[in-house]
Amino acid sequence: MRFTSKLPHVGTTIFTVMTSLARELGAINLAQGFPDYDPPERLKELLEKSVQTGHNQYAHMAGVLELRQAIASKLEVSYGRRIDAENEITITLGATEAIFSAIAGLVHPGDEVILLDPSYDSYAPAVILAGGRPIHIPLQPPSFRVDWQRVRDAVTPRLRMVMINTPHNPTGAIIRPAELDMLAEILRPTDAFVLADEVYEHMVFDGAKHASIVAHDELFERGIATYSFGKPMHATGWRVGYAVARPEITREIRRVHQFNTFSIAAPLQHAIADFLREVPEHSGQLNDYYQRKRDLFLGALRGSRFTWTPSEGTYFQLLDFRQISDATDVEFADRLVRDVKVASIPVSVFYETPPKLSVVRFCFAKTDSTLEQAAERLRRM
Ligand SMILES: Cc1ncc(COP(=O)(O)O)c(C=O)c1O
Repeated sequence: MRFTSKLPHVGTTIFTVMTSLARELGAINLAQGFPDYDPPERLKELLEKSVQTGHNQYAHMAGVLELRQAIASKLEVSYGRRIDAENEITITLGATEAIFSAIAGLVHPGDEVILLDPSYDSYAPAVILAGGRPIHIPLQPPSFRVDWQRVRDAVTPRLRMVMINTPHNPTGAIIRPAELDMLAEILRPTDAFVLADEVYEHMVFDGAKHASIVAHDELFERGIATYSFGKPMHATGWRVGYAVARPEITREIRRVHQFNTFSIAAPLQHAIADFLREVPEHSGQLNDYYQRKRDLFLGALRGSRFTWTPSEGTYFQLLDFRQISDATDVEFADRLVRDVKVASIPVSVFYETPPKLSVVRFCFAKTDSTLEQAAERLRRM
């Protein structure tokens, strides 16, 4: 039988490769973005309660209403906009499904979608499966700021969507409110959507505030904001996320979601809804929680030959290894896991056309002792 792959360039991701290597070599895994600690105890108790009290059958296609209402309250507190829980929020299988269903529902064959590289690895395959054409615009090191003139220059009549990610994985850079104004101005003459991947909304440091498109009057009219409970609840394995968009956009997202995942695990949704109601202050505490972890990791690296700019957001920190080696980042990450047994992620793999980079990414969503131990090893380089 003969057939051609629809995604011939997709192979095993670097995350799987580095995690397997870390396991095989007994290395500390700061490569993949997940905590090495559990969700809050109360959330685990509420999940048990949710199963025991009978929330075990299909949930509503768009999500458990109590959860959507709790999210709407949270969005109003965070971004000052009253969101309609019935028609503007869809619970999805992690942010990954929110992104996938939005792209599949809104991008037509031949449409162009601007991606800012380094970009999260699910974006381009989702665009290609929809028949769209990813237009990659690189972010330049060392600051990895968006060159908005290049975005402006890439606008064509075929432009259907611009994808942004703030705080940004893998660089830890954040987009400022004035930049959202610039994007709004660039897109004013177009019919392009903005998909804002805001999964790290509650990990923003040094007093900065997350600039959400939900708070932006003009962008929200053409926007889809995607979120994940995996990050704030320290529960990446629960796979619960959501998409927020105006009703006419939400309708198209749900048309895909309905036949893609249909609905998300009911007991998980009830547990999260109860937790948000009981502990509404939880997500607001995460900025400080993760800033302390970032500072602990960087403090423990003092005296090493790595250099860095402190991450502005996310639970990732880039370290520059130029003073240690002139290897490529892929070679250096390989050397790091073998020589001192710390797994990291090279940043060039997030580019369509990789530049030569001298930074690797570390996840600091780890216990203090894991971070101290990893830093002690990194100081040996
Ligand atoms: C930028 C970004 N977007 C989306 C996701 C996917 O989120 P989820 O695990 O909820 O599918 C991640 C996860 O690491 C991410 O870093």
